[in-house]
Amino acid sequence: MRSCKLPSGAEMPVFGIGTWRMGESARQRAQELDAIVHALDLGYPMIDTAEMYGEGGAEELVGEAIRGRTRRPFIVSKVYPHNATRAGTVAACERSLKRLGVERIDLYLLHWRGGAPLEQTFEAFHRLKTAGKIGDFGVSNFDTDDMQDAARHDNGENGANQVLYCLSRRGPEFDLVPWMRQRSIPLMAYSPLDQGGLLGKPALRKLAGEVGCTPAQLALAWLLAQPGVVTIPKSSSRARMKENLGAMEIELSPQILADLDKAFLPPRAKQPLQML
Ligand SMILES: NC(=O)c1ccc[n+]([C@@H]2O[C@H](COP(=O)([O-])OP(=O)(O)OC[C@H]3O[C@@H](n4cnc5c(N)ncnc54)[C@H](OP(=O)(O)O)[C@@H]3O)[C@@H](O)[C@H]2O)c1
Repeated sequence: MRSCKLPSGAEMPVFGIGTWRMGESARQRAQELDAIVHALDLGYPMIDTAEMYGEGGAEELVGEAIRGRTRRPFIVSKVYPHNATRAGTVAACERSLKRLGVERIDLYLLHWRGGAPLEQTFEAFHRLKTAGKIGDFGVSNFDTDDMQDAARHDNGENGANQVLYCLSRRGPEFDLVPWMRQRSIPLMAYSPLDQGGLLGKPALRKLAGEVGCTPAQLALAWLLAQPGVVTIPKSSSRARMKENLGAMEIELSPQILADLDKAFLPPRAKQPLQML
């Protein structure tokens, strides 16, 4: 499985499982657990979660799915902004570790920028890293100006930025993607299928037919074709987990990339970062 390097030198897989909306309902739990376990069996090397998802329910689900496995996936989790003070971040991380049943979260992110001063959050992240409770840390939903602010406090250790980025939402390409690429900070593209909304677009369906793959695979392969971009589609279905992983095998020709650029125009001016 392909990986990319975080600024610390650690490797992060470029593909993983998203878990938003999981762990929220007791009725759905068995199906969600089955889908995650199946995905891990297929070789998904990473899981993205957060204390927010199901108010801890998604982290518990991930904990159950990875328990007893000989090789556990790379784990990404996130702290709520209202917990992201010096002491609050450490306490939130301890709770997440407990729910996940692991001794270390590989990448720990500030979910979005809130009221807590960034220097406090980064100080706590640094303490957690020194204690071995997290491998790396980073941010989420940070636009270029937020990344610039973060750079004043992160001691060069900001490992990643997880943002809304997909074919139908290409705004970050104007300034955020180049800013991050210049500093070798990976971009984690969330909602890569635009929560399913992208998949019915006629242009995507037509081009997927030409490539010989499904629309979801084409949308994911487009993200994976970009250096320093990592993505984390979510599914609660075994079949879709398998389908989405198939994107890793697809190499897009320059012609298809150009056709996608015509159908889903890259930005011509700055667009404020969108957030879901
Ligand atoms: N940092 C943040 O603020 C933030 C915000 C949003 C998301 N995220 C992370 O990014 C992950 C992915 O984003 P997302 O969950 O918002 O949206 P997404 O991955 O773009 O789309 C998920 C939706 O698409 C459906 N789907 C998945 N694969 C499909 C396929 N092959 N064909 C048809 N439909 C398919 C899923 O339905 P089924 O489940 O029924 O298959 C689900 O409804 C999240 O789960 C979360 O981990 C982070």
